[in-house]
Amino acid sequence: MAMARTTTGEVVLHDTELGGGEYVVLAYGAANRDEEVFGETADRFDITRSPNPHVSFGFGEHFCIGASLARLEARVLLEEVLARWPDYAVAGDIDRAPSTLFRQITHVPVLFAP
Ligand code: HEM
Repeated sequence: MAMARTTTGEVVLHDTELGGGEYVVLAYGAANRDEEVFGETADRFDITRSPNPHVSFGFGEHFCIGASLARLEARVLLEEVLARWPDYAVAGDIDRAPSTLFRQITHVPVLFAP
Protein backbone atom coordinates (compact mmCIF):
# COMPACT_ATOMS: atom_id res chain seq x y z
CA MET A 1 0.00 0.00 0.00
CA ALA A 2 2.81 2.39 0.76
CA MET A 3 6.55 2.81 1.02
CA ALA A 4 8.58 5.52 2.71
CA ARG A 5 11.37 7.56 1.16
CA THR A 6 13.71 10.34 2.32
CA THR A 7 14.20 13.16 -0.17
CA THR A 8 17.83 13.64 -1.20
CA GLY A 9 17.28 17.24 -2.29
CA GLU A 10 14.64 19.88 -2.88
CA VAL A 11 11.68 18.68 -4.89
CA VAL A 12 8.30 20.11 -5.88
CA LEU A 13 5.39 17.66 -5.91
CA HIS A 14 1.96 18.92 -6.99
CA ASP A 15 2.76 22.51 -5.91
CA THR A 16 4.17 21.35 -2.57
CA GLU A 17 7.81 22.22 -1.96
CA LEU A 18 9.85 19.69 -0.02
CA GLY A 19 13.34 20.23 1.28
CA GLY A 20 16.12 17.66 1.39
CA GLY A 21 16.06 14.99 4.08
CA GLU A 22 12.28 15.00 4.41
CA TYR A 23 10.44 11.77 5.17
CA VAL A 24 7.69 11.13 2.64
CA VAL A 25 5.25 8.29 2.05
CA LEU A 26 4.44 7.01 -1.44
CA ALA A 27 0.84 5.81 -1.30
CA TYR A 28 0.75 3.27 -4.14
CA GLY A 29 -2.77 2.21 -3.16
CA ALA A 30 -4.05 5.75 -3.69
CA ALA A 31 -2.02 6.21 -6.88
CA ASN A 32 -3.78 3.17 -8.35
CA ARG A 33 -7.07 5.03 -7.90
CA ASP A 34 -5.88 8.35 -9.32
CA GLU A 35 -8.65 9.81 -11.49
CA GLU A 36 -6.11 11.93 -13.37
CA VAL A 37 -4.56 8.65 -14.60
CA PHE A 38 -7.48 6.19 -14.74
CA GLY A 39 -10.40 8.54 -15.37
CA GLU A 40 -13.87 8.41 -13.83
CA THR A 41 -13.74 4.63 -13.28
CA ALA A 42 -10.49 4.85 -11.32
CA ASP A 43 -12.04 3.29 -8.22
CA ARG A 44 -13.44 0.28 -10.06
CA PHE A 45 -11.60 -3.07 -10.18
CA ASP A 46 -11.38 -3.63 -13.94
CA ILE A 47 -9.11 -6.50 -14.85
CA THR A 48 -9.58 -5.69 -18.57
CA ARG A 49 -8.30 -2.10 -18.22
CA SER A 50 -5.85 -1.38 -21.03
CA PRO A 51 -3.49 0.34 -20.83
CA ASN A 52 -3.20 -0.11 -17.08
CA PRO A 53 -0.33 2.01 -15.74
CA HIS A 54 -0.78 0.86 -12.11
CA VAL A 55 2.14 1.12 -9.70
CA SER A 56 1.48 -1.99 -7.59
CA PHE A 57 5.06 -3.11 -8.25
CA GLY A 58 6.50 0.38 -7.91
CA PHE A 59 8.17 2.19 -10.79
CA GLY A 60 11.52 3.36 -12.10
CA GLU A 61 14.80 2.03 -10.80
CA HIS A 62 13.22 0.44 -7.71
CA PHE A 63 10.59 -1.45 -9.70
CA CYS A 64 9.92 -4.76 -7.91
CA ILE A 65 12.56 -7.30 -8.86
CA GLY A 66 10.12 -10.10 -8.00
CA ALA A 67 7.24 -8.86 -10.17
CA SER A 68 7.56 -11.63 -12.78
CA LEU A 69 7.73 -14.33 -10.08
CA ALA A 70 4.74 -12.85 -8.22
CA ARG A 71 2.69 -12.68 -11.44
CA LEU A 72 3.64 -16.27 -12.35
CA GLU A 73 2.75 -17.58 -8.87
CA ALA A 74 -0.61 -15.80 -8.94
CA ARG A 75 -1.38 -17.12 -12.43
CA VAL A 76 -0.45 -20.73 -11.56
CA LEU A 77 -2.49 -20.56 -8.35
CA LEU A 78 -5.58 -19.29 -10.16
CA GLU A 79 -5.15 -21.74 -13.06
CA GLU A 80 -4.83 -24.74 -10.72
CA VAL A 81 -7.69 -23.76 -8.41
CA LEU A 82 -10.06 -22.87 -11.25
CA ALA A 83 -9.17 -26.07 -13.15
CA ARG A 84 -10.41 -28.09 -10.15
CA TRP A 85 -13.24 -25.88 -8.88
CA PRO A 86 -14.38 -23.42 -11.56
CA ASP A 87 -17.52 -22.69 -9.55
CA TYR A 88 -16.87 -20.91 -6.29
CA ALA A 89 -18.10 -18.00 -4.23
CA VAL A 90 -16.87 -15.93 -1.30
CA ALA A 91 -19.10 -17.12 1.52
CA GLY A 92 -18.74 -14.71 4.39
CA ASP A 93 -16.79 -11.90 5.90
CA ILE A 94 -13.15 -11.34 5.00
CA ASP A 95 -10.73 -10.78 7.89
CA ARG A 96 -7.93 -8.26 7.49
CA ALA A 97 -4.85 -7.60 9.58
CA PRO A 98 -4.11 -3.96 10.43
CA SER A 99 -1.14 -2.76 8.41
CA THR A 100 -0.02 0.49 6.85
CA LEU A 101 2.34 -1.32 4.48
CA PHE A 102 0.28 -4.20 3.12
CA ARG A 103 -3.36 -4.90 2.41
CA GLN A 104 -3.30 -8.10 4.46
CA ILE A 105 -6.14 -10.59 4.22
CA THR A 106 -5.89 -13.31 6.86
CA HIS A 107 -9.11 -15.26 6.32
CA VAL A 108 -11.51 -15.70 3.40
CA PRO A 109 -14.32 -18.25 3.65
CA VAL A 110 -14.85 -19.73 0.18
CA LEU A 111 -17.50 -22.17 -0.97
CA PHE A 112 -16.42 -24.49 -3.79
CA ALA A 113 -19.09 -26.33 -5.75
CA PRO A 114 -18.30 -30.07 -6.04
C1 HEM B 1 2.31 -9.44 -5.32
C2 HEM B 1 3.57 -9.48 -4.88
C3 HEM B 1 4.47 -8.28 -4.79
C4 HEM B 1 4.15 -6.95 -4.73
C5 HEM B 1 2.78 -6.28 -4.77
C6 HEM B 1 5.40 -6.22 -4.65
C7 HEM B 1 5.51 -4.84 -4.60
C8 HEM B 1 6.70 -4.15 -4.63
C9 HEM B 1 6.83 -2.71 -4.71
C10 HEM B 1 5.66 -1.72 -4.75
C11 HEM B 1 8.14 -2.41 -4.75
C12 HEM B 1 8.77 -1.02 -4.93
C13 HEM B 1 9.09 -0.43 -3.59
C14 HEM B 1 9.78 0.90 -3.77
O1 HEM B 1 9.26 1.79 -4.46
O2 HEM B 1 10.85 1.04 -3.20
C15 HEM B 1 8.87 -3.66 -4.67
C16 HEM B 1 10.24 -3.75 -4.64
C17 HEM B 1 10.92 -4.94 -4.46
N1 HEM B 1 10.39 -6.20 -4.46
FE1 HEM B 1 8.42 -6.66 -4.62
N2 HEM B 1 6.44 -7.12 -4.65
C18 HEM B 1 5.92 -8.38 -4.74
C19 HEM B 1 6.62 -9.56 -4.79
C20 HEM B 1 7.98 -9.68 -4.69
C21 HEM B 1 8.72 -10.93 -4.74
C22 HEM B 1 8.07 -12.31 -4.96
C23 HEM B 1 10.03 -10.63 -4.57
C24 HEM B 1 11.25 -11.52 -4.53
C25 HEM B 1 11.25 -12.80 -4.86
C26 HEM B 1 10.12 -9.19 -4.42
C27 HEM B 1 11.28 -8.48 -4.23
C28 HEM B 1 11.41 -7.12 -4.27
C29 HEM B 1 12.66 -6.40 -4.13
C30 HEM B 1 14.03 -7.01 -3.88
C31 HEM B 1 12.36 -5.03 -4.26
C32 HEM B 1 13.33 -3.84 -4.18
C33 HEM B 1 13.76 -3.46 -5.58
C34 HEM B 1 14.67 -2.24 -5.56
O3 HEM B 1 14.58 -1.42 -4.65
O4 HEM B 1 15.49 -2.11 -6.49
N3 HEM B 1 8.87 -8.65 -4.51
N4 HEM B 1 7.97 -4.70 -4.61
